[in-house]
Amino acid sequence: MVDTSDEWIRTRTGIIERRIVSEDENTSDLAVEAAKKAIKDAGISEDEIDLVVVATASPDLIWPSTACIVQNKLKIKNCGAFDISAVCTGFVYGLAVASQFVATGMYKNVLLIGAESISRFIDWKDRNTCVLFGDGAGAVVLQEATEGFGVLKNYLGADGKRIDILKIPAGGSAIPSSYESVEKKLHYIHMNGNEVYKFAITALVKSVKKVLSSSGFSLDEVNYIIPHQANQRITEAASARLKIDRNKIISNIDKYGNTSSASIPIALDEIYQSGKIKYGDLVITVGFGAGLTWGANLIRWNK
Ligand code: ACO
Repeated sequence: MVDTSDEWIRTRTGIIERRIVSEDENTSDLAVEAAKKAIKDAGISEDEIDLVVVATASPDLIWPSTACIVQNKLKIKNCGAFDISAVCTGFVYGLAVASQFVATGMYKNVLLIGAESISRFIDWKDRNTCVLFGDGAGAVVLQEATEGFGVLKNYLGADGKRIDILKIPAGGSAIPSSYESVEKKLHYIHMNGNEVYKFAITALVKSVKKVLSSSGFSLDEVNYIIPHQANQRITEAASARLKIDRNKIISNIDKYGNTSSASIPIALDEIYQSGKIKYGDLVITVGFGAGLTWGANLIRWNK
């Protein structure tokens, strides 16, 4: 489709494989699959979910929210549902927002999902973007934790002055869909890769430092950092700047590509299922993306 090579993609991004939705699947279908596994793992039933939050940059529809579609597909009655729009930082923003409902005692079981069919927004003739993204979903059920466990700290940042370096220009109220918007390919992801690359490294390092700064913990005490999986070189450059043991930084971009808001929960699930994370471990989830947005969560594992 484009002038590229497997060698270029592997060395410049670290991506070897990725997953793409089939024609009859949407973001909500991936979200539902992930949600069912998380609900089962939490040992509860769908009916016990009090709130559904979906972080996504590729919703089924502009509105209503994908969270409402997911709620219906899971046959959950009597619960709230809404989407979070923070693109690749969606899960980090989602965790900060969703955990408040548990912390305040308003809800017992909050379902948070990061889900994407980002392939639907890719111009497969643009080699700057079409080699990077993949589809996927991951989910967690947030419940009350023992004192000193669970989501301990959140740090969120944004810089709306820099929306132009990464965006889907049309399809919203600023540029509604038209023949012209389609002809000009304005419904696809437009990205200045170099600018995003530089921003991502700085944002990752800054977010990790900020979320730790008021926590009383040092970087040495952190067991795992789970960064948004955008590019292996971004992860490596940031770990070098943080001077952190390379084995503490989780990477699975080789298998999935950049799955936007789904990348952190997919990686979290993989290290949880593999038994790597143990009760009491300190974990930082850290994201960066369009907006620009960035942020991190500091979690003491309570399972
Ligand atoms: N295949 C082959 N060659 C390519 C490709 C490709 N897919 N893409 C670019 N090139 C070429 C360029 O044309 C250029 O050629 P030239 O030297 O003859 O001019 C050369 O490769 C180097 O181009 P750069 O853009 O400098 O390549 P770079 O090493 O910076 O890698 C990349 C590009 C992978 C896009 C990198 O900048 C990056 O990862 N940026 C961050 C992207 C990202 O993470 N985006 C998502 C953020 S998260 C979110 O919110 C969605």
